[in-house]
Amino acid sequence: MEERITLQVARYRPEQESKPTFEEYEVPLREEWAVLDGLNYVKDRLDGTLSYRWSCRMGICGSCGMTVNGEPVLTCAAFLSDFAPGPVRVEPLRNFPVIRDLVIEMTDFVHKLGRVKPWIVADDEAPPEGAHGEYLQTPEELEEYHQYSMCINCMLCYSACPVYGLDQSFVGPAAIALAQRYNMDSRDAGNALRMAELSGHDGVWGCTFVGECTSACPKGVDPAGAIQRYKVTAATEAAKSLLLPRAAEK
Ligand code: FES
Repeated sequence: MEERITLQVARYRPEQESKPTFEEYEVPLREEWAVLDGLNYVKDRLDGTLSYRWSCRMGICGSCGMTVNGEPVLTCAAFLSDFAPGPVRVEPLRNFPVIRDLVIEMTDFVHKLGRVKPWIVADDEAPPEGAHGEYLQTPEELEEYHQYSMCINCMLCYSACPVYGLDQSFVGPAAIALAQRYNMDSRDAGNALRMAELSGHDGVWGCTFVGECTSACPKGVDPAGAIQRYKVTAATEAAKSLLLPRAAEK
């Protein structure tokens, strides 16, 4: 007989219930099955009303993040066998409102992402070079920001961040890491625009360097490091803006 493992899954309809409850489901414990496969088994065979997000099933889209046995993880990359003999407790990502069951409201994150302009801001006075009007870049220049470009917007770092948990005005780890990704890109001219967004009280200075964001990242990005680098840049810029006018007066 096939081995099985128990999933304890959070169920919640906020418009009808005052708090979440847990439902237990027995699913096959197969070596190649991730937690997401267990949830898909529940949805397909046991209870079609269960709600959760997923798409790529290969750690790329960032949509399947949930809290599994207390830790924020991508459920397509967390294997059931790692939690054997179980039970496996599956809850929505922390620090976000729940829409239903395991589905969280991500509007706040999307808004914050937009604030840091996570795209290449062109310098109108320095048009692209090269035969076809391309922005050319060396492998060394690419290496400068490469790790930050691995972010998949899964929001695990927000779920792990105690600062964001206490104060949701904090712009948060992934948005700052992505701001750094573009600031460090040799083709970008948006540093000053992003600095204006991130040097305020809800920007980089909100971070107390707990480092949980970096530990939680499934793609090896270091948002905590990005934030500290940003603090150094912000402090340097502020010092320059104070000192330069005085130097000009002399
Ligand atoms: Fe896409 Fe897990 S389903 S990252």
